[in-house]
Amino acid sequence: MNFDKKINRINTHSVKWEMMQPYYGVDPKIGTPMWVADMDFEPPKEVHDALAVMANQGIYGYYGNDENYRNSITGWMARRHGWKVNPSDIFTTHGLVNGTALCVQSFTEVGDSVVLFTPVYHAFSRVIKAAGRKVIECKLAIKNGRYKMDFDAYDKQMDGSAKMVILCSPHNPGGRVWTVSELKEVATFAERYNLILISDEIHHDITFETKHITMPIAAPEISDRLVMMTAATKTFNIAGCHTGNVIIADKKLKARFSTIMEATGTSANSFGLYMTQAAYSFGDKWVDSLCKYLDDNRKILDATIARIPGLQSMPMEATYLSWVDFSGTGMPKSEYIDRVQKKAHIAASHGETFGAGGETFLRFNFATQRTELIKAMARLENAFSDLQ
Ligand SMILES: Cc1ncc(COP(=O)(O)O)c(C=O)c1O
Repeated sequence: MNFDKKINRINTHSVKWEMMQPYYGVDPKIGTPMWVADMDFEPPKEVHDALAVMANQGIYGYYGNDENYRNSITGWMARRHGWKVNPSDIFTTHGLVNGTALCVQSFTEVGDSVVLFTPVYHAFSRVIKAAGRKVIECKLAIKNGRYKMDFDAYDKQMDGSAKMVILCSPHNPGGRVWTVSELKEVATFAERYNLILISDEIHHDITFETKHITMPIAAPEISDRLVMMTAATKTFNIAGCHTGNVIIADKKLKARFSTIMEATGTSANSFGLYMTQAAYSFGDKWVDSLCKYLDDNRKILDATIARIPGLQSMPMEATYLSWVDFSGTGMPKSEYIDRVQKKAHIAASHGETFGAGGETFLRFNFATQRTELIKAMARLENAFSDLQ
Protein backbone atom coordinates (compact mmCIF):
# COMPACT_ATOMS: atom_id res chain seq x y z
CA MET A 1 0.00 0.00 0.00
CA ASN A 2 1.56 3.22 -1.17
CA PHE A 3 -0.82 6.12 -0.85
CA ASP A 4 1.82 8.45 -2.30
CA LYS A 5 1.69 6.64 -5.63
CA LYS A 6 0.34 9.03 -8.23
CA ILE A 7 -2.05 7.41 -10.69
CA ASN A 8 -3.27 9.20 -13.78
CA ARG A 9 -7.07 9.31 -13.74
CA ILE A 10 -7.60 11.71 -16.64
CA ASN A 11 -9.46 10.06 -19.54
CA THR A 12 -10.27 6.99 -17.41
CA HIS A 13 -14.01 7.69 -16.98
CA SER A 14 -13.40 8.84 -13.41
CA VAL A 15 -16.31 11.15 -12.57
CA LYS A 16 -14.05 13.01 -10.14
CA TRP A 17 -11.48 13.95 -12.80
CA GLU A 18 -13.57 13.85 -15.97
CA MET A 19 -16.46 16.00 -14.74
CA MET A 20 -14.55 18.65 -12.78
CA GLN A 21 -14.31 20.83 -15.87
CA PRO A 22 -18.00 20.67 -16.90
CA TYR A 23 -19.26 21.01 -13.31
CA TYR A 24 -16.75 23.42 -11.79
CA GLY A 25 -14.84 24.88 -14.73
CA VAL A 26 -11.57 23.52 -13.35
CA ASP A 27 -9.11 22.04 -15.86
CA PRO A 28 -7.95 18.60 -14.62
CA LYS A 29 -4.48 19.17 -16.10
CA ILE A 30 -3.76 22.11 -13.82
CA GLY A 31 -6.31 21.75 -11.03
CA THR A 32 -7.27 19.38 -8.21
CA PRO A 33 -10.63 17.63 -7.87
CA MET A 34 -11.68 17.86 -4.21
CA TRP A 35 -15.37 17.25 -4.64
CA VAL A 36 -17.07 13.81 -4.98
CA ALA A 37 -16.25 11.27 -2.22
CA ASP A 38 -13.84 9.11 -4.22
CA MET A 39 -10.18 8.65 -3.28
CA ASP A 40 -7.17 8.76 -5.61
CA PHE A 41 -5.80 5.56 -4.03
CA GLU A 42 -5.61 1.99 -5.27
CA PRO A 43 -7.59 -0.47 -3.13
CA PRO A 44 -5.83 -3.37 -1.36
CA LYS A 45 -4.00 -5.71 -3.74
CA GLU A 46 -6.38 -8.54 -2.82
CA VAL A 47 -9.24 -6.62 -4.43
CA HIS A 48 -7.32 -6.49 -7.73
CA ASP A 49 -6.47 -10.16 -7.29
CA ALA A 50 -10.14 -11.07 -6.86
CA LEU A 51 -10.97 -9.38 -10.15
CA ALA A 52 -7.97 -11.04 -11.79
CA VAL A 53 -9.31 -14.46 -10.73
CA MET A 54 -12.59 -13.62 -12.46
CA ALA A 55 -10.84 -12.34 -15.55
CA ASN A 56 -8.56 -15.36 -15.77
CA GLN A 57 -11.46 -17.74 -15.46
CA GLY A 58 -12.92 -15.73 -18.31
CA ILE A 59 -16.66 -16.22 -17.81
CA TYR A 60 -18.82 -13.55 -16.24
CA GLY A 61 -21.98 -15.43 -15.40
CA TYR A 62 -24.50 -15.19 -12.57
CA TYR A 63 -23.12 -15.43 -9.02
CA GLY A 64 -24.16 -18.26 -6.73
CA ASN A 65 -23.43 -19.39 -3.15
CA ASP A 66 -22.80 -16.16 -1.29
CA GLU A 67 -21.98 -17.75 2.08
CA ASN A 68 -18.34 -16.60 2.10
CA TYR A 69 -19.39 -13.15 0.95
CA ARG A 70 -21.88 -12.86 3.84
CA ASN A 71 -19.35 -14.22 6.31
CA SER A 72 -16.79 -11.63 5.18
CA ILE A 73 -19.29 -8.89 6.07
CA THR A 74 -20.21 -10.34 9.46
CA GLY A 75 -16.50 -10.87 10.20
CA TRP A 76 -15.66 -7.25 9.39
CA MET A 77 -18.52 -5.84 11.46
CA ALA A 78 -17.58 -8.04 14.45
CA ARG A 79 -13.81 -7.29 14.24
CA ARG A 80 -13.95 -3.61 13.42
CA HIS A 81 -17.19 -2.49 15.07
CA GLY A 82 -17.97 -5.10 17.74
CA TRP A 83 -21.31 -5.60 16.01
CA LYS A 84 -22.74 -9.10 15.64
CA VAL A 85 -24.62 -9.37 12.35
CA ASN A 86 -26.74 -12.35 11.40
CA PRO A 87 -25.72 -13.30 7.82
CA SER A 88 -29.36 -13.71 6.81
CA ASP A 89 -30.13 -10.09 7.79
CA ILE A 90 -28.01 -8.78 4.89
CA PHE A 91 -29.58 -7.49 1.67
CA THR A 92 -27.17 -6.51 -1.09
CA THR A 93 -28.20 -3.47 -3.14
CA HIS A 94 -26.62 -1.46 -5.95
CA GLY A 95 -24.90 0.81 -3.44
CA LEU A 96 -26.46 2.88 -0.71
CA VAL A 97 -28.15 5.56 -2.77
CA ASN A 98 -30.05 2.61 -4.21
CA GLY A 99 -30.41 1.25 -0.66
CA THR A 100 -31.92 4.57 0.43
CA ALA A 101 -34.34 4.55 -2.50
CA LEU A 102 -35.44 1.00 -1.65
CA CYS A 103 -35.98 2.04 2.00
CA VAL A 104 -38.11 4.98 0.85
CA GLN A 105 -40.23 2.56 -1.21
CA SER A 106 -40.39 -0.02 1.59
CA PHE A 107 -41.21 2.16 4.58
CA THR A 108 -43.06 5.26 3.29
CA GLU A 109 -45.92 6.18 0.96
CA VAL A 110 -46.20 8.98 -1.59
CA GLY A 111 -46.89 12.22 0.32
CA ASP A 112 -45.19 11.05 3.56
CA SER A 113 -42.19 12.92 4.93
CA VAL A 114 -38.69 11.76 5.77
CA VAL A 115 -36.62 13.57 8.39
CA LEU A 116 -33.03 14.55 7.59
CA PHE A 117 -30.56 16.28 9.89
CA THR A 118 -29.11 18.89 7.54
CA PRO A 119 -26.73 19.73 6.08
CA VAL A 120 -26.30 16.14 5.01
CA TYR A 121 -25.28 13.95 2.06
CA HIS A 122 -27.26 15.42 -0.84
CA ALA A 123 -28.48 12.20 -2.49
CA PHE A 124 -30.84 11.50 0.43
CA SER A 125 -33.14 14.42 -0.38
CA ARG A 126 -32.78 13.87 -4.12
CA VAL A 127 -34.02 10.28 -3.84
CA ILE A 128 -36.80 11.11 -1.35
CA LYS A 129 -38.19 13.97 -3.45
CA ALA A 130 -37.94 12.06 -6.73
CA ALA A 131 -40.12 9.37 -5.14
CA GLY A 132 -42.87 11.91 -4.35
CA ARG A 133 -42.10 12.08 -0.63
CA LYS A 134 -41.27 15.26 1.32
CA VAL A 135 -38.20 16.13 3.34
CA ILE A 136 -38.36 17.68 6.81
CA GLU A 137 -35.02 19.44 7.19
CA CYS A 138 -34.03 19.40 10.85
CA LYS A 139 -31.10 21.77 10.90
CA LEU A 140 -28.05 20.84 12.93
CA ALA A 141 -26.93 23.49 15.40
CA ILE A 142 -23.28 24.50 15.70
CA LYS A 143 -21.86 24.42 19.23
CA ASN A 144 -18.14 24.94 19.86
CA GLY A 145 -17.62 24.74 16.11
CA ARG A 146 -19.22 21.29 15.75
CA TYR A 147 -22.62 20.03 14.72
CA LYS A 148 -25.07 19.08 17.47
CA MET A 149 -28.68 18.02 17.30
CA ASP A 150 -31.35 20.31 18.69
CA PHE A 151 -34.34 18.10 19.48
CA ASP A 152 -36.39 20.90 21.08
CA ALA A 153 -36.39 22.65 17.71
CA TYR A 154 -37.07 19.41 15.83
CA ASP A 155 -40.06 18.57 18.03
CA LYS A 156 -41.68 21.80 16.84
CA GLN A 157 -41.16 20.82 13.18
CA MET A 158 -42.90 17.46 13.42
CA ASP A 159 -46.37 17.66 11.84
CA GLY A 160 -47.40 13.99 11.83
CA SER A 161 -46.37 13.39 8.20
CA ALA A 162 -42.98 11.80 8.89
CA LYS A 163 -42.60 8.01 8.65
CA MET A 164 -38.84 7.66 8.46
CA VAL A 165 -35.65 9.41 9.57
CA ILE A 166 -32.21 8.99 8.00
CA LEU A 167 -29.12 9.50 10.13
CA CYS A 168 -25.69 9.85 8.54
CA SER A 169 -23.26 8.33 11.06
CA PRO A 170 -20.43 9.35 10.97
CA HIS A 171 -21.70 12.57 9.53
CA ASN A 172 -21.03 13.69 5.98
CA PRO A 173 -20.30 16.59 5.55
CA GLY A 174 -19.59 17.65 9.18
CA GLY A 175 -17.13 14.84 10.01
CA ARG A 176 -18.82 14.12 13.35
CA VAL A 177 -18.68 10.77 15.08
CA TRP A 178 -21.92 10.89 17.08
CA THR A 179 -21.60 9.99 20.77
CA VAL A 180 -23.60 7.20 22.38
CA SER A 181 -25.83 9.73 24.10
CA GLU A 182 -26.46 11.56 20.80
CA LEU A 183 -27.29 8.25 19.11
CA LYS A 184 -29.65 7.37 21.95
CA GLU A 185 -31.37 10.73 21.52
CA VAL A 186 -31.88 10.03 17.82
CA ALA A 187 -33.29 6.61 18.74
CA THR A 188 -35.67 8.18 21.28
CA PHE A 189 -36.73 10.76 18.68
CA ALA A 190 -37.55 7.93 16.24
CA GLU A 191 -39.60 6.21 18.94
CA ARG A 192 -41.36 9.43 19.93
CA TYR A 193 -42.67 9.93 16.39
CA ASN A 194 -42.94 6.25 15.44
CA LEU A 195 -40.34 6.56 12.67
CA ILE A 196 -38.29 3.88 10.96
CA LEU A 197 -34.67 4.84 11.58
CA ILE A 198 -32.21 4.37 8.73
CA SER A 199 -28.62 4.62 9.95
CA ASP A 200 -26.26 5.16 7.00
CA GLU A 201 -22.85 4.16 8.35
CA ILE A 202 -20.96 4.05 5.06
CA HIS A 203 -18.20 6.25 6.55
CA HIS A 204 -17.75 4.15 9.71
CA ASP A 205 -14.26 2.82 8.96
CA ILE A 206 -12.53 6.13 8.35
CA THR A 207 -12.17 7.68 11.77
CA PHE A 208 -9.35 9.47 13.58
CA GLU A 209 -9.04 9.69 17.38
CA THR A 210 -12.71 8.98 18.12
CA LYS A 211 -14.17 5.51 17.73
CA HIS A 212 -17.40 5.14 15.81
CA ILE A 213 -20.25 3.45 17.69
CA THR A 214 -22.74 1.60 15.58
CA MET A 215 -26.44 2.26 16.21
CA PRO A 216 -27.40 -1.34 17.14
CA ILE A 217 -24.90 -1.15 19.99
CA ALA A 218 -25.79 2.39 21.07
CA ALA A 219 -29.54 1.75 21.08
CA PRO A 220 -30.35 -2.01 21.00
CA GLU A 221 -33.84 -1.21 22.32
CA ILE A 222 -34.95 0.12 18.91
CA SER A 223 -34.01 -2.92 16.82
CA ASP A 224 -37.69 -3.23 15.77
CA ARG A 225 -37.47 0.08 13.88
CA LEU A 226 -33.81 0.09 12.80
CA VAL A 227 -32.40 -0.37 9.30
CA MET A 228 -28.62 -0.28 8.89
CA MET A 229 -26.74 0.67 5.74
CA THR A 230 -23.06 -0.19 5.26
CA ALA A 231 -20.71 -0.75 2.34
CA ALA A 232 -17.07 -1.48 1.62
CA THR A 233 -17.08 1.10 -1.15
CA LYS A 234 -16.04 4.33 0.66
CA THR A 235 -13.60 2.51 2.91
CA PHE A 236 -11.76 0.75 0.07
CA ASN A 237 -12.38 3.18 -2.79
CA ILE A 238 -14.37 0.74 -4.88
CA ALA A 239 -17.54 2.82 -5.34
CA GLY A 240 -17.68 1.98 -9.05
CA CYS A 241 -18.81 -1.53 -8.15
CA HIS A 242 -22.05 -0.06 -6.78
CA THR A 243 -22.50 -2.59 -4.02
CA GLY A 244 -23.90 -1.87 -0.57
CA ASN A 245 -25.58 -3.68 2.28
CA VAL A 246 -28.88 -2.96 3.94
CA ILE A 247 -28.92 -4.91 7.19
CA ILE A 248 -32.24 -5.48 8.94
CA ALA A 249 -32.73 -7.62 12.07
CA ASP A 250 -36.46 -7.08 12.59
CA LYS A 251 -38.64 -9.70 10.88
CA LYS A 252 -41.47 -7.37 9.83
CA LEU A 253 -39.14 -4.69 8.40
CA LYS A 254 -37.17 -7.42 6.67
CA ALA A 255 -40.31 -8.74 5.00
CA ARG A 256 -41.28 -5.26 3.77
CA PHE A 257 -37.80 -4.62 2.39
CA SER A 258 -37.62 -8.06 0.82
CA THR A 259 -40.89 -7.42 -1.04
CA ILE A 260 -39.51 -4.22 -2.54
CA MET A 261 -36.28 -6.02 -3.53
CA GLU A 262 -38.51 -8.52 -5.38
CA ALA A 263 -40.76 -5.85 -6.85
CA THR A 264 -37.79 -3.94 -8.25
CA GLY A 265 -35.94 -7.06 -9.38
CA THR A 266 -32.87 -6.06 -7.37
CA SER A 267 -29.98 -8.49 -7.27
CA ALA A 268 -26.28 -7.80 -6.85
CA ASN A 269 -23.61 -7.85 -9.56
CA SER A 270 -20.87 -10.45 -9.18
CA PHE A 271 -17.99 -7.95 -9.49
CA GLY A 272 -19.17 -6.09 -6.40
CA LEU A 273 -19.53 -9.31 -4.43
CA TYR A 274 -16.01 -10.48 -5.32
CA MET A 275 -14.50 -7.08 -4.50
CA THR A 276 -16.39 -6.63 -1.24
CA GLN A 277 -15.48 -10.10 -0.02
CA ALA A 278 -11.79 -9.55 -0.79
CA ALA A 279 -11.76 -6.12 0.85
CA TYR A 280 -13.48 -7.25 4.04
CA SER A 281 -11.40 -10.44 4.26
CA PHE A 282 -7.95 -8.92 3.72
CA GLY A 283 -8.27 -5.13 4.17
CA ASP A 284 -7.69 -4.55 7.90
CA LYS A 285 -4.08 -3.35 7.73
CA TRP A 286 -4.75 -1.36 4.58
CA VAL A 287 -7.53 0.61 6.32
CA ASP A 288 -5.39 1.23 9.40
CA SER A 289 -2.67 2.70 7.17
CA LEU A 290 -5.21 4.67 5.15
CA CYS A 291 -6.60 6.33 8.29
CA LYS A 292 -3.09 7.39 9.33
CA TYR A 293 -2.35 8.83 5.89
CA LEU A 294 -5.68 10.69 5.81
CA ASP A 295 -5.11 12.01 9.31
CA ASP A 296 -1.86 13.65 8.15
CA ASN A 297 -3.62 15.07 5.09
CA ARG A 298 -6.35 16.42 7.36
CA LYS A 299 -3.75 18.24 9.45
CA ILE A 300 -2.23 19.83 6.34
CA LEU A 301 -5.63 21.01 5.17
CA ASP A 302 -6.64 22.30 8.61
CA ALA A 303 -3.36 24.19 9.02
CA THR A 304 -3.84 25.86 5.63
CA ILE A 305 -7.44 26.83 6.38
CA ALA A 306 -6.39 28.21 9.78
CA ARG A 307 -3.91 30.54 8.05
CA ILE A 308 -6.57 32.07 5.77
CA PRO A 309 -8.50 34.82 7.58
CA GLY A 310 -12.26 34.26 7.62
CA LEU A 311 -12.13 30.55 6.77
CA GLN A 312 -12.98 27.90 9.33
CA SER A 313 -12.83 24.12 8.94
CA MET A 314 -15.06 22.03 11.17
CA PRO A 315 -13.00 19.78 13.50
CA MET A 316 -13.17 16.31 12.02
CA GLU A 317 -13.52 12.94 13.74
CA ALA A 318 -14.25 10.93 10.60
CA THR A 319 -14.35 10.88 6.76
CA TYR A 320 -11.94 12.48 4.30
CA LEU A 321 -14.30 15.35 3.58
CA SER A 322 -13.53 18.65 5.25
CA TRP A 323 -16.35 21.13 5.73
CA VAL A 324 -15.11 24.69 5.47
CA ASP A 325 -17.12 27.78 6.32
CA PHE A 326 -16.39 30.84 4.17
CA SER A 327 -18.88 33.20 5.86
CA GLY A 328 -16.10 34.89 7.86
CA THR A 329 -14.60 36.31 4.66
CA GLY A 330 -17.64 38.59 4.31
CA MET A 331 -17.48 37.89 0.56
CA PRO A 332 -20.49 37.07 -1.57
CA LYS A 333 -20.63 33.38 -2.41
CA SER A 334 -19.85 34.01 -6.08
CA GLU A 335 -16.57 35.64 -5.11
CA TYR A 336 -15.18 32.96 -2.81
CA ILE A 337 -16.31 30.25 -5.22
CA ASP A 338 -14.56 32.06 -8.09
CA ARG A 339 -11.40 32.30 -6.04
CA VAL A 340 -11.48 28.57 -5.18
CA GLN A 341 -12.34 27.42 -8.71
CA LYS A 342 -10.69 30.02 -10.96
CA LYS A 343 -7.67 31.13 -8.91
CA ALA A 344 -6.88 28.05 -6.83
CA HIS A 345 -8.08 25.62 -9.55
CA ILE A 346 -9.85 23.47 -6.98
CA ALA A 347 -13.19 21.76 -7.58
CA ALA A 348 -14.91 21.55 -4.15
CA SER A 349 -18.55 20.62 -3.42
CA HIS A 350 -20.89 23.57 -2.93
CA GLY A 351 -22.46 23.63 0.53
CA GLU A 352 -26.03 24.49 -0.38
CA THR A 353 -26.48 21.13 -2.13
CA PHE A 354 -26.32 19.51 1.34
CA GLY A 355 -29.50 21.30 2.47
CA ALA A 356 -30.36 23.93 5.07
CA GLY A 357 -27.32 25.12 6.98
CA GLY A 358 -24.79 24.38 4.22
CA GLU A 359 -25.11 27.66 2.33
CA THR A 360 -21.80 29.27 3.31
CA PHE A 361 -19.68 26.11 3.21
CA LEU A 362 -17.56 24.26 0.67
CA ARG A 363 -16.61 20.61 1.16
CA PHE A 364 -13.03 19.57 0.36
CA ASN A 365 -12.13 15.92 -0.30
CA PHE A 366 -8.50 15.50 0.79
CA ALA A 367 -8.11 11.80 -0.11
CA THR A 368 -5.38 12.35 -2.64
CA GLN A 369 -1.60 12.07 -2.79
CA ARG A 370 0.11 14.30 -0.24
CA THR A 371 2.11 16.16 -2.91
CA GLU A 372 -1.10 16.97 -4.81
CA LEU A 373 -2.80 18.19 -1.62
CA ILE A 374 0.13 20.39 -0.68
CA LYS A 375 0.12 22.00 -4.13
CA ALA A 376 -3.64 22.57 -3.99
CA MET A 377 -3.41 24.09 -0.50
CA ALA A 378 -0.64 26.45 -1.65
CA ARG A 379 -2.87 27.63 -4.49
CA LEU A 380 -5.79 28.06 -2.07
CA GLU A 381 -3.72 30.18 0.29
CA ASN A 382 -2.49 32.23 -2.62
CA ALA A 383 -6.05 32.81 -3.90
CA PHE A 384 -6.91 34.51 -0.60
CA SER A 385 -3.48 36.10 0.04
CA ASP A 386 -4.85 39.64 -0.15
CA LEU A 387 -6.74 38.95 3.10
CA GLN A 388 -3.56 38.24 5.12
C1 LIG B 1 -23.52 9.09 3.57
C2 LIG B 1 -23.38 8.49 2.21
N1 LIG B 1 -24.21 7.51 1.82
C3 LIG B 1 -24.12 6.95 0.61
C4 LIG B 1 -23.15 7.38 -0.29
C5 LIG B 1 -23.06 6.78 -1.66
O1 LIG B 1 -23.27 5.46 -1.63
P1 LIG B 1 -23.22 4.54 -2.94
O2 LIG B 1 -22.05 4.95 -3.76
O3 LIG B 1 -23.09 3.20 -2.34
O4 LIG B 1 -24.52 4.74 -3.63
C6 LIG B 1 -22.28 8.40 0.07
C7 LIG B 1 -21.27 8.87 -0.88
O5 LIG B 1 -20.56 9.79 -0.67
C8 LIG B 1 -22.39 8.96 1.35
O6 LIG B 1 -21.57 9.94 1.75
